[in-house]
Amino acid sequence: MQIKNFAVFLLSVALLIGAVNPSIAQDQPTPEQIAASAADTRQSVFKLLLFYLRPLVGMAQGAPFDAAVAEMNGRRIAALAPTIPHVFVEDTRAFDVETEALDVIWEDASGFAAKAQALVDNASAFAEAASTGDRGQTLGAFRALGGSCGDCHDNFRVDTD
Ligand code: HEC
Repeated sequence: MQIKNFAVFLLSVALLIGAVNPSIAQDQPTPEQIAASAADTRQSVFKLLLFYLRPLVGMAQGAPFDAAVAEMNGRRIAALAPTIPHVFVEDTRAFDVETEALDVIWEDASGFAAKAQALVDNASAFAEAASTGDRGQTLGAFRALGGSCGDCHDNFRVDTD
């Protein structure tokens, strides 16, 4: 009886960990699906960067200046920018995914990382300027921040402009 109970226990454990569950094998994503998901993830990072940049563009174009929003958004961008190289670790060159990423990203990973770091630095400098509450100083730092987006796009993204 005890041996039978133990056998039932072992079977339950095996089922729980999926050892005898054939559907587990079917749930493994294909390399194409992994690549598509990686492209999706990195594009989400950029959507979020744009989300935080947009109010700053507005202020630079004459919308009412809000130093607290400027500082917060600058810090958010500075916090997100270091994730850019991480979300490009998955090399999707061999797959037919929807992307504007150029192959050179994986050929010159350190150059790409340097552009991400420039965004970190310029977003931090912008946030520091905003923390003074001074409109002129803050907007003066905006050009470098916005420029860091375009500077990477010019080198590493399909030219859509
Ligand atoms: C280090 C390089 C780099 C920097 C810095 C960078 N980008 Fe990009 N961006 C890219 C690449 C590469 C793509 C294409 C990604 C893809 O299609 O897989 C992209 C795509 C985008 C997209 C399109 C996303 C989508 O929906 O497909 C937006 C929007 C964007 N970037 C905004 C920004 C903004 C705003 C900044 C600055 C705050 C910025 N990027 C900084 C490299 C960069």
